[in-house]
Amino acid sequence: MPAERGCRYPVAIVGAGALGLHFAARLAARGPVAVIARSAERAQALRAGVTVGGVPFRPEAFAPADAPPAEWVLLLVKTGDTAEAAATALAMQPQGVLSLQNGLVEAELRQVCGALPAGQGITTEGAFRDGARVEPAGAGETLVPPGFDAVAGLLAAAGLRARVEPDIVAARLAKLLVNLAINPLAALYRVTNGELLAPPYRAQLEALVAEAWPVLRAEGLALDEAAAHARVVAVATATGANRASMLQDVLAGRRTEIDAITGVLLALAERQGVEVPTHRAVLARVKRAEAGRPD
Ligand SMILES: NC(=O)c1ccc[n+]([C@@H]2O[C@H](COP(=O)([O-])OP(=O)(O)OC[C@H]3O[C@@H](n4cnc5c(N)ncnc54)[C@H](OP(=O)(O)O)[C@@H]3O)[C@@H](O)[C@H]2O)c1
Repeated sequence: MPAERGCRYPVAIVGAGALGLHFAARLAARGPVAVIARSAERAQALRAGVTVGGVPFRPEAFAPADAPPAEWVLLLVKTGDTAEAAATALAMQPQGVLSLQNGLVEAELRQVCGALPAGQGITTEGAFRDGARVEPAGAGETLVPPGFDAVAGLLAAAGLRARVEPDIVAARLAKLLVNLAINPLAALYRVTNGELLAPPYRAQLEALVAEAWPVLRAEGLALDEAAAHARVVAVATATGANRASMLQDVLAGRRTEIDAITGVLLALAERQGVEVPTHRAVLARVKRAEAGRPD
């Protein structure tokens, strides 16, 4: 359903990757959605069509320089691209910018957006992209901060599970905890999430949770220590056959999201005056793996 020429889009997505195209295809079935790709070439290729879950989809794709005005903008780039994507979002003169990225990026987002409402939600939707083919990987749930009710409404109208979460800080920290424990170890040892539950990895998984828990608790995590361990084990079990995104990034020679995940924990710990040596070591090892010098 294309927007009329010159119209303001009700919603736009910056980042035409796995998750961005999955959300865009769902939203486009209900109303106009603008998709902002990294470049004019990529936007042109997208307009030729992709498949999402086997169904052809021709996104209304734009280059960042041609991004049209939009009411709400969703940010779905990898965390290393947040600032640039946020600047594109800001130029679209929206009512608000909502990140659904992993890690913690809200502070960086707000720095770019200034007075414009900007927030970070979380999503357990999943998708995988292989060239022009996107495969959604099971339905999840999207939680948005208060003030982004309209975005939750648009997502829900498109058939996605979405709602406003009053304690979005706690929800984000619980997701960060899981990513902090599973992602780096999966990437370093090149194992599936489920394999982390058995020796020799299990002890390291538990050590990462034990070290991160007091830091995240002090920031508003709503899980006690036993529940924190149980949450990580439950996610590793439920996603046992999956290869974590950080593992996929390392295998593909791409930059990982370690700075927005473990890097953010280190910054929080430093501010609190707490030592997190295991996470510090893990960050250094992931950086070496990113640079093609794994130990
Ligand atoms: N995929 C999942 O299942 C999933 C689940 C939950 C959360 N997430 C989170 O969602 C975020 C996106 O993940 P993803 O898997 O969709 O990543 P992805 O497939 O790599 O997609 C990101 C897209 O953003 C594009 N991009 C980068 N910088 C841009 C810019 N300045 N302007 C416009 N587009 C730009 C990239 O272009 P190029 O292709 O040219 O690099 C890429 O197409 C990440 O934070 C991830 O952790 C993903």
